[in-house]
Amino acid sequence: MSFSDVLATIGGLTVAFYLLKLSWTCCCGLREYFLSKLWQVNLRRYGQWAVVTGATSGIGKAYACELARRGLNVALVSRSAKKLQEVAREIEKQYGRKTRTIQVDFTEGHSIYPAIAEQLQGLEIGILVNNVGMVYSDCFTYFLDVPDAGQKITQLIYCNILSVPQMTRLILPGMVERKTGLIINISSEAGIRPQPLLSLYCATKIFVTYFSQCLHAEYKSMGITVQCVAPFIVSTKMTNMKVNSFVKSAPEFAHDALNTVGHSNYTSGCLSHALQDMALAILLPDWIRMSSFLIIKLANQAKRIKSERRVCKENLKIKLK
Ligand SMILES: NC(=O)c1ccc[n+]([C@@H]2O[C@H](COP(=O)([O-])OP(=O)(O)OC[C@H]3O[C@@H](n4cnc5c(N)ncnc54)[C@H](OP(=O)(O)O)[C@@H]3O)[C@@H](O)[C@H]2O)c1
Repeated sequence: MSFSDVLATIGGLTVAFYLLKLSWTCCCGLREYFLSKLWQVNLRRYGQWAVVTGATSGIGKAYACELARRGLNVALVSRSAKKLQEVAREIEKQYGRKTRTIQVDFTEGHSIYPAIAEQLQGLEIGILVNNVGMVYSDCFTYFLDVPDAGQKITQLIYCNILSVPQMTRLILPGMVERKTGLIINISSEAGIRPQPLLSLYCATKIFVTYFSQCLHAEYKSMGITVQCVAPFIVSTKMTNMKVNSFVKSAPEFAHDALNTVGHSNYTSGCLSHALQDMALAILLPDWIRMSSFLIIKLANQAKRIKSERRVCKENLKIKLK
């Protein structure tokens, strides 16, 4: 065999490998986002109750409503008593399901979990949605510029990280005993493709991703499914963005994402986000993506300074008149 034959064989095998990989990805995508619409898992089979953290707005509220629509009673865990009552009333009225509300602030750390356990006692919990999450600032920020950083770091870790294994620890034993259960952990695209200026948030989300994947491997033989959902942008209080072809509404997102249960244990949640994920992976190497966040930040800063200067100048002109 000549050298050129060896090169041609290696080339052929490489192309075949990538074609096979692409076909496999397409088949998985077809099942996850198309077949799942026709062939939905009956979520009632996991148990009568679902528990949703961060359930008073955005993705959490949307999951709570969608689970109630699909026949489950819902325990809502969040920090504002008034909002909890509103969502509970909405679910009871609209879907005729039972609700239970548990008011806690996840930024308080370990001390809140015994009270949550007490309030969940006696419920046959089939589904846990670990959704609660926060960012430390309403815009992209250099780590050292995070306002009140000392406190924010701890709060973010308590809320985004600690809540996930602690809630799991409370609910998983009952699932294992009944040999069935579904745990949905809301991670983020930022958990697999890190974004500068959101450093701590991204780090908390990769924790959720890895924890979910390992837990699924540990408990699947015991009848437990652990699904990790990694959305792109959903229109919520956190993102403050309007719905468009890239940005999903929370109810639509929760509806599509719940369809993927039983079809995928790691999902972007909906077709539009899966396509964005694929496009990013193929078109934007990490180093371009990472530096583009910094460039956008600098451009925004320059724009802000320019507009502040303009306002100052106009104020000065008015005063001089
Ligand atoms: N939106 C997106 O584009 C996006 C993308 C990827 C991943 N995610 C993830 O999806 C999850 C939900 O995000 P979202 O956009 O729906 O957020 P959101 O609209 O801000 O809602 C967050 C929910 O969590 C509650 N919450 C916040 N901090 C809490 C605390 N310390 N203790 C108890 N409850 C608390 C909020 O209660 P209040 O109503 O009282 O504030 C609210 O119900 C998060 O884990 C986020 O990281 C979101």
